[in-house]
Amino acid sequence: YPPERIRNFSIIAHVDHGKSTLADRLLELTGTIKRGHGQPQYLDKLQVERERGITVKAQTATMFYRNELNGPGTSEAHNPSSFLLNLIDTPGHVDFSYEVSRSLAACQGALLVVDAAQGVQAQTVANFYLAFESELTIIPVINKIDQPTADPDRVKAQLKSMFDLDPSEALLTSAKTGQGLEHVLPAVIERIPPPRGIINSSLRMLLLDSYYDEYKGVICHVAVVDGTLRKGDKISSAATGQAYEIVDVGIMHPELTPTGVLLTGQVGYVVTGMRSTKEARIGDTLYHNKSIVEPLPGFKPAKHMVFSGLYPADGSDFEVLNHAIERLTCNDASVSVTKETSTALGLGFRCGFLGLLHMDVFHQRLEQEYGAHVISTVPTVPYIFEYSDGRYVGSVITLCSERRGQQLEYSFIDSQRAFMKYRLPLREIVVDFYNELKSLTSGYASFDYEDSEYQQADMVKLDILLNGQPVDAMATIVHNLKAQRVGRELVEKLKKFIDRQMFEITIQAAIGSKVIARETISAMRKNVLAKCYGGDVTRKRKLLEKQKEGKKRMKRVGSVDIPQEAFHQLLRVS
Ligand code: GTP
Repeated sequence: YPPERIRNFSIIAHVDHGKSTLADRLLELTGTIKRGHGQPQYLDKLQVERERGITVKAQTATMFYRNELNGPGTSEAHNPSSFLLNLIDTPGHVDFSYEVSRSLAACQGALLVVDAAQGVQAQTVANFYLAFESELTIIPVINKIDQPTADPDRVKAQLKSMFDLDPSEALLTSAKTGQGLEHVLPAVIERIPPPRGIINSSLRMLLLDSYYDEYKGVICHVAVVDGTLRKGDKISSAATGQAYEIVDVGIMHPELTPTGVLLTGQVGYVVTGMRSTKEARIGDTLYHNKSIVEPLPGFKPAKHMVFSGLYPADGSDFEVLNHAIERLTCNDASVSVTKETSTALGLGFRCGFLGLLHMDVFHQRLEQEYGAHVISTVPTVPYIFEYSDGRYVGSVITLCSERRGQQLEYSFIDSQRAFMKYRLPLREIVVDFYNELKSLTSGYASFDYEDSEYQQADMVKLDILLNGQPVDAMATIVHNLKAQRVGRELVEKLKKFIDRQMFEITIQAAIGSKVIARETISAMRKNVLAKCYGGDVTRKRKLLEKQKEGKKRMKRVGSVDIPQEAFHQLLRVS
C-alpha cells in the first residue's frame, strides 16, 4: 500500500460516549473481526478494562477497506479503492491523556465521538485540544442517536461554538444499532490526509508503545514515518544508541500478523530482542544502523499527579510484590517506582501515577494479573515547598555570626545548594564548629577552611581560680564580648565535674583581678573510714586502696582534685 492509500486515525471521546463500541463496529465492518464475536470492545484487552468498561491502554488495529464509492478494482493491494486503515484506540479518561497524546502522534486524523444526549463533556474538550494541537483533521461523530433523549442538533451547536467545527460535517451514528456507520470510513478516507512520510528516504520510525509478551519478549508498536523496515534489518535507538535486529515485523490485524515489512506511513509491531520494555523509550526514534537521521520530536513525558505507597499485605511477600511491580511497569511505563520503608509496614514502594483511576487500575492489575496482595497508603499529591527559614541556610548564618564570622560571599550553586564564604576566628571553629554545622543541617552542609591572616580583635585572658589559686591549664583567651558568658559556663561545668571533697571549694572565673563568675562546692561530711571503728585493718586498707584508685584519674591542683573529664569538658566551652 502506497501512503496515498493509508489512513492513520484515532477515536477520541469523553468516557462512555461509545468509542470502543464504535471501534468494534468498524473492525466488524471491515471483516477484521467477526460480527458478534462474543466479546464486545475487542480492543479493550485487559481484564480490568473489561470489568470497568474503560480503556486503559491504547491499542492499535489495522483494517483493510475497499471504498466502493471509488469503484471496484482488481487485486486488493493494487486496487485504487482499497485502503489500509490503522485505527488507534485511545483511553477516554483524563488520567490517560498521556496515552492519548502518544497515540495521536502516529495519526493524521481523529474521530471526535460525542454522545448525542450528553453532548460535549470535559474530556471531549481536553481530547479535542490534544488532537487540534497535533494538527489532526477532526471528524465529529455524534453517537448514540438511537437514544430517546438524543439531541443531535444541540450537540452540533455545541461543536460549532466550542470548537468552531462545521455542523454539516458531523456524522450521526449509533454504534449500537449500526445506523449511520456506513458513512464513517468513507469520511476517514476522504477527509483525513494520507501520512506525509518520504518513501525513498532513510528509515525513521516512532516508538509508540511497548509491552511484554511471555513468548515473544518485548513487542514494540511503531509507526514508520519515512522509509521501509524489513525483517532482519539492523536498527538503532536515537535515545539510547543501542543496536537491535528486527526479529519479527508485522501488523495488528487485530492479532499480531507477520508481514516481513512495514512501509512508509504504516503502523505495526516489531520484535527486536529487547530484554525489558525499559529499553523501549516511548517517543524514541528508531533508524537503520549507519544512516544519519534527524530524530522525530518525542512525546510529552508522563506527569505524575498522585503518589501512594504500596506494601505487601504480608511483610514476607515483598519479593512477590517486587516481581509483580517489575512486570507490570514493563507494560505501563507511565508509573514511577522507588523503594521505601515504613516503620509500620516494612519494605515497600512509593509509586507515582497519572491520576487516581490510574492508581486504582495499577493496584487491581497487581492483584488480578500477578496475585500480589497489596496495601496502599493514602494517596498524596506532589507539593513544592520552601522552608520558611530558607532551608538550612538560616541556621548556618546564625551559627557563623554567633562565632563572630564575617560573611564574604553567599550564592546559590543550584536550587538545592548554597555556597557561603566566611572569615571566622580559628578559635571559634577549631573545637566543635563542624559538629554543630552538621547537626544543624542534618548532615547536608560540608565545610572546608583555609588560613586567613591574623586579625585585630578585642581579646582577654580568662583565668579559672580554685580556692583562689589560678589553674594555668584552664586559662583561656576569649573575646571580650563573650568573656562573661564563657566564664559563667566554665565555672558551672567545673562544679559538675569536681567531686565534693573534705573541704569547701570555690571556683571562680576572672579577667585580671576582676571575678566575673563564681560557684561553690560544699564540703563532704562523710569520711570513708568514719564507720570503721578500730579492728578490721584489711577492710580499712581496702577502702583506702579504693580511694587511691579513684585519685589516679585526678589531677591535684593545690589542694583540689580535678578529674581528667573536667579538662575535656572545658574545651567544649568557647
Ligand atoms: P472508554 O473506553 O471507557 O473511554 O469508554 P467508551 O467511550 O469506549 O465507551 P464504550 O464504547 O465502552 O460505550 C459505553 C456504553 O455506551 C456501553 O454500555 C455501550 O454499549 C453504550 N453505547 C455505545 N454506543 C452506543 C450507541 O450508539 N447507542 C447506545 N444506546 N448505547 C451505546
